[in-house]
Amino acid sequence: MAGTLEELGYEEAYRASLDAPEEFWRSAAQQIDWFEFPTQIASQDDNGVTRWFEGGKLNTAWLALDRHVQAGLGDSTALIYDSPVTSTQQRVSYAELLHRVEKVAGGLVGLGVEKGDRVVIYMPMIPEAVIAMLACARIGAIHSVVFGGFAAPELALRIDDAKPKAVLSASCGIEFATIIPYKPLLDEAIALAAAKPDHAVILQRPQCRAPMLQGHDLDWRSWEEASAPAACTVVDAWDPLYILYTSGTTGKPKGVVRDNGGHAVALHYSMKAIYGCDAGDVFWASSDVGWVVGHSYIAYGPLLKGCASVLYEGKPVRTPDAGAIWRVIAEHDVKTMFVAPTAFRAVKKEDPEATLKARHDISCLQYLFVAGERLDPPTYEWLKSTVHTPVIDHWWQTETGWAICAKMMGVADPELRETRPGSPSHPVPGYDLRIFDDDGNELGPEQEGNVVVKGPLPPGALPTIWGDHQRYEDAYWSRYPGFYLTGDGGYRDADGYVYIMGRVDDVMNIAGHRLSTGELEEVVAAHPAVAECAVVGAADEDKGQVPVGLVLLKDGVNVEFAALEAELVQMVRAQVGAFANFKRAIVVPRLPKTRSGKILRQAIRKLADGVPFDVPSTIDDPAILDEIAAALQTR
Ligand code: COA
Ligand code: AMP
Repeated sequence: MAGTLEELGYEEAYRASLDAPEEFWRSAAQQIDWFEFPTQIASQDDNGVTRWFEGGKLNTAWLALDRHVQAGLGDSTALIYDSPVTSTQQRVSYAELLHRVEKVAGGLVGLGVEKGDRVVIYMPMIPEAVIAMLACARIGAIHSVVFGGFAAPELALRIDDAKPKAVLSASCGIEFATIIPYKPLLDEAIALAAAKPDHAVILQRPQCRAPMLQGHDLDWRSWEEASAPAACTVVDAWDPLYILYTSGTTGKPKGVVRDNGGHAVALHYSMKAIYGCDAGDVFWASSDVGWVVGHSYIAYGPLLKGCASVLYEGKPVRTPDAGAIWRVIAEHDVKTMFVAPTAFRAVKKEDPEATLKARHDISCLQYLFVAGERLDPPTYEWLKSTVHTPVIDHWWQTETGWAICAKMMGVADPELRETRPGSPSHPVPGYDLRIFDDDGNELGPEQEGNVVVKGPLPPGALPTIWGDHQRYEDAYWSRYPGFYLTGDGGYRDADGYVYIMGRVDDVMNIAGHRLSTGELEEVVAAHPAVAECAVVGAADEDKGQVPVGLVLLKDGVNVEFAALEAELVQMVRAQVGAFANFKRAIVVPRLPKTRSGKILRQAIRKLADGVPFDVPSTIDDPAILDEIAAALQTR
């Protein structure tokens, strides 16, 4: 490798990462502080998975906090909590954050939480959510953050899979002006779960006081106050840092495992190489701690780099208006922002001319990154004409933990590659991306197929599924042995720009939130009137996709369709969460299936979107497609 990582242009960095991966990632690993530097850069674990940095000893919370404080940066801002829904703003320095993390870590130790134990975190967007994550990391406990929008049964599923010793939560979240009490959801989830956590620690927020269960629930503030600060536990590079559940193609979520070493190296590298950020810069990922973006770029990435991270408890609109994003950028001097296109679609709808932007000086903003769903060309064009900075689409997944494709702003020659509408640009170092047809033949430029990555995946990407390694092999590696199946379809153009066209499996993307059709189908199918159902993600102007349910009634059942739909909508809200945006259920006489009985969801989705498609040759009865098309037209 000619030169240091910072001196490399994109092409050199990319080639070096594929031609000499150990040299490349050794250089990246040398940029973080280890208690013991790895003995191996790449090696295989007992499952035969290539893992990174074997023998390395570190602590991710130490890297994110202590290291900066010891280097004299204790007074620098670590977190900027901006909460229009509670009219609060708070800046937390690295020294203050470290102090609170030490105490909360000590509180966990006091509850008997040890290295390797799991802790579920079910919290809104408040500093304590990040403190909880870092406190777990400090003592080598494995956190599993569950998005606050999930209803009790989904939380219970995750509790049962992770089997946490303790749950950390808060009395409520706030959605626009609505207070969402969390404690009843948590209590219901614990009642539903077989694996009962020993304790729940509840942060009482002034907006809502949660009833506490004596002997089980602890009041966060007095618990934190009373605890002794905990020292860092040294962990191995391969020890898990966290489990994050994501939707697969079945109703059961997959526990993506992230290890400490690869994660720290990859995120630290990405902060400069992709996002162009150095210590002291302000980074704002407008997401939620419950999603991977929140993990990587609200909590860990910016702190590993010594940046200030904005934690925004609000919405792009109506908190109080569509100027919220511009205000936060201007007030906090944000250099790099990361947001889902859906947020800007909401802004565009309420303020098409972006007139509210004029009230704020956003000249501090250097890069606007978007991800989480496809950046549709109208939103791209609107953004391009609205902000003065490059609008950078980049593509990644919970599984990878950081970008697979992006225009990299921190390489030596960012100016060489312009962004192109509809494309997240080129693969980043470590990702050997290919496009395959269904038979595993590699496709050339402009040919659409399955997007895969030749193994091994780079540091930071998942090495397994929690408690079910076979599922990892089956879901990602069995279709094309040696190649990681992303689940996305797409193509490259003649210049190597990648275009991601959407999921080719049964995963939906609703307002940047990932959900499986199976998760919703399980709920809909449980209605006593329903014999069978299919849920598909149909294109939606605001949310990218919204779920639509096709429902087949049991013989002899006589229900009013509108009443049935209302009941199903309520069931999905109560069992999965309102964020699923399930609002439409249509009764159909039959469902299109293959001759072997598999429901043809992709065909239904294309019908719902009104786009032409080839009728699958395996279809049992093509006439059903006309019936479905007619049913979808009904409203
Ligand atoms: N807790 C509880 N409920 C939640 C929730 C949470 N964390 N997040 C969403 N919900 C609820 C909403 O309150 C709403 O409830 P309602 O049907 O009773 O009104 C429902 O889920 C649908 O939410 P949403 O799809 O988010 O629509 P919205 O109209 O409330 O907000 C946007 C629209 C554009 C403001 C919002 O979707 C948004 O901020 N999107 C960006 C999401 C994002 O950052 N994704 C990136 C992940 S990487
Ligand atoms: P999640 O795991 O929740 O981050 O969702 C990952 C999925 O979101 C990907 O597999 C894609 O389908 C979609 N996605 C994320 N970013 C992009 C993007 N920039 N363009 C197109 N799709 C995206």
